[in-house]
Amino acid sequence: MGIVFIGPPGSGKGTQAVRLSQHLDVPHLSTGDMLRAARDEHTEIGNSVHDFLVSGRLVPDPVMLELIGGRLKEADCVGGCVLDGFPRTLAQAEALDEFLSTHVGPLDVAIVLVVDEEELVTRLAGRQRADDQPDVIRRRLKVYKQQVDPIAEHYEEKGILRNVDGIGTPDEVYQRIQVSLQGVER
Ligand code: AP5
Ligand code: MG
Repeated sequence: MGIVFIGPPGSGKGTQAVRLSQHLDVPHLSTGDMLRAARDEHTEIGNSVHDFLVSGRLVPDPVMLELIGGRLKEADCVGGCVLDGFPRTLAQAEALDEFLSTHVGPLDVAIVLVVDEEELVTRLAGRQRADDQPDVIRRRLKVYKQQVDPIAEHYEEKGILRNVDGIGTPDEVYQRIQVSLQGVER
């Protein structure tokens, strides 16, 4: 089962992806978490992405493809995975399609968590991550808006896009995700 979570910063991608990956018993791959871990461990990739993370800009596609490609090749991903925060550009989406078609099988569903800006800002204000400063949040939101339409269209054309209302309690949102997956699980 291959699922991707798309959504603006603070929309609940991580919160919901963790739950769904546990339910499906497949790994949860958050590219944000992977980048922050690489940065904290001072790996070569980690050192190269520091400035992108602090400013809220996208890490260049070649770096992302190296990072996620390596992880997807690991044995635990053979039965699928729940991706959170990847793809974020059309080039990443196309590269993911190509990788999955040769290694795992096509993606099953792309879930877009829909949350209005006021709610996002409230949620992120209650968190302490280094990139949750107001100016960086604005940048992350802007980047998301610039990138999301081509990715959503890409998955819409494949018939696997699901827009899910991300407002409400985490339990309520998770219920909606489960409804959106009915008939898809394999
Ligand atoms: P990333 O780590 O993916 O951050 P993001 O997209 O900005 O999203 P967040 O992790 O802040 O939010 P989320 O949607 O996961 O929500 P969460 O569940 O945490 O990326 C960070 C950076 O890495 C990017 O800016 C970029 O530089 C780089 N990067 C990552 N992937 C990349 C890629 N593919 N290509 C290039 N660069 C990449 O929830 C947020 C808060 O709200 C939490 O406090 C949570 O407890 C709370 N919450 C969750 N659900 C609810 C709810 N229903 N009601 C109330 N509160 C809730
Ligand atoms: Mg997250």
